[in-house]
Amino acid sequence: MPGAFVVFEGGEGAGKSTQCRLLADALVARGHEVVVTREPGGTAIGEAIREVLLGAGSRGMAARTEALLFAAARAEHAATLIRPAVARGAVVLSDRYLDSSVAYQGAARGLGEERIAELSRWATEGLVPDLTVVLDVDPTIGLGRARDANRMEAEPAAFHAGVRASFLRRAAASPGRYLVLPADRPPEEVAARVLEAVRDVLPAAAPAEGGGDAHPGGSP
Ligand SMILES: Nc1ncnc2c1ncn2[C@@H]1O[C@H](COP(=O)(O)OP(=O)(O)O)[C@@H](O)[C@H]1O
Ligand SMILES: [Mg+2]
Repeated sequence: MPGAFVVFEGGEGAGKSTQCRLLADALVARGHEVVVTREPGGTAIGEAIREVLLGAGSRGMAARTEALLFAAARAEHAATLIRPAVARGAVVLSDRYLDSSVAYQGAARGLGEERIAELSRWATEGLVPDLTVVLDVDPTIGLGRARDANRMEAEPAAFHAGVRASFLRRAAASPGRYLVLPADRPPEEVAARVLEAVRDVLPAAAPAEGGGDAHPGGSP
């Protein structure tokens, strides 16, 4: 694919939104077209589904309803935002993706990790990130930081422990496509390690760092 698709995963307050912003700034400064997006959301339909999913009015939603709504939002996201952006050479940074469904609905809600992964693979026609950064932090630290109150944050400690363990299992199963970082380090330190790893998946089209090698309007 001409561009790149990079995902940030992790529990509440792990620093996903912070790292998305820092990486976006670094990549824009290096001449990339960057699209920052999030799940659930990223599209008009996805944001509407997000309201349903995370609003207090949805407390007690059946677990399967929740799983299907996340998958529906992701289907729209993959088909109408992520794929077209990557196809034109952009770097797409998503705050959460498939592994969040596997961790929250598959593991923590007990619907089955493989079943939820399969649902998402169907929904996205198999769109796999080039790199998934798992920001790993003790849930008590993350929840202490989290600001955007949502329905998941109210879940008990065992739920968040299950989420964390699932992210780590997914990463361990495919080490080449994941980067697990301790997220209790200062944000700038985390960002530097993210940037280093992301270099390997960036589209070649953008000028290299510090490179005066670009040929404006030119051919190869
Ligand atoms: N590495 C870090 N160390 C300390 N605080 C952080 C770090 N990363 C983010 N924060 C702070 O923690 C809070 C939650 O961060 P955020 O990026 O919104 O997390 P998430 O999107 O994963 O829920 C914010 O107030 C943010 O400034
Ligand atoms: Mg966030």
